[in-house]
Amino acid sequence: MTNPIHLPLHVRKQVLRLPVPHALRTALPASDRAEAALASVLKGGPIPHVDVTHLAQQLTSASGHAVLGAPAHWTDAQLRWAYVVLLRQLGRLNGRYGKLFDVVDRGLDHKNSNAPISKTKAATGMHTDSSDARYNPDLVSLLCLQPGASGGQSLLAHAEGLLERLRKQRPDLEPVAREAFPRDVVTPGLAQNTSAIAANAIPVFADDAHGMVFRYMRYWTERAMAKLGREVPSELAELFDFIDADMADNALRFSLKRGDMLIANNRTVVHGREAFENLPGAAPRCLVRAWVDGFLDSRAKSLPLRA
Ligand SMILES: [Fe+2]
Repeated sequence: MTNPIHLPLHVRKQVLRLPVPHALRTALPASDRAEAALASVLKGGPIPHVDVTHLAQQLTSASGHAVLGAPAHWTDAQLRWAYVVLLRQLGRLNGRYGKLFDVVDRGLDHKNSNAPISKTKAATGMHTDSSDARYNPDLVSLLCLQPGASGGQSLLAHAEGLLERLRKQRPDLEPVAREAFPRDVVTPGLAQNTSAIAANAIPVFADDAHGMVFRYMRYWTERAMAKLGREVPSELAELFDFIDADMADNALRFSLKRGDMLIANNRTVVHGREAFENLPGAAPRCLVRAWVDGFLDSRAKSLPLRA
């Protein structure tokens, strides 16, 4: 079959939505038992089996993401329980910031402190999660409990298409994208001196045994360079400008509603959030983030890395 407008066949203009697996609905604890059930599954207690074959295929395919919509009338504890049970089918929850991390505006400003943007109401810019060179979660997920009063739309873009366009339009920048540049160290508990920052160097594009790894955090790279007293090389600024412009043209933009669970492959999909506002009297925006490790290790044998 021909593709008359010469677009890559995997170009997707809408976020991929999947139904919540039926097994989650049938195993859902009653609302008065949900807190205890949540505590149990967070501690590693037994979980019901849920078939996530289709979801896992989407996460390893060119889409690299999915949004599952759980019923909005489930309580917060029921939604969190369903979220943890679902994610545990895919791998292990990482506890670096707590297995579940509530992304809410805490009145902080990431521009004059080491606060992560996840504790502010600012636009995040497009990024992949984890600024630590030694740690990169396989999956990043967000459960929407409260979407907030205004703004806060979610953005997703796929690095595979970006790399194709970079190679066509600015092949001179690919070697820059494969060179490691430092990122600021913001992880609590890690040394944050200049030698630690200089050592925390990560390339934008790399490959490992599982395929492509895309790690993009413009803001933290530029801040690392400033802390080290180094200019951002002009070719690196050009690469960042190319990536940002490409994502502005190609990103999916969508709203999450209560009960939505967004899961993205953090190695191939970059995400962002627009600025938002909470209004007095309205429930504050609250998304529950989780990082999943071991997804690729547990899936690589049975699933192709790309569709
Ligand atoms: Fe993020």
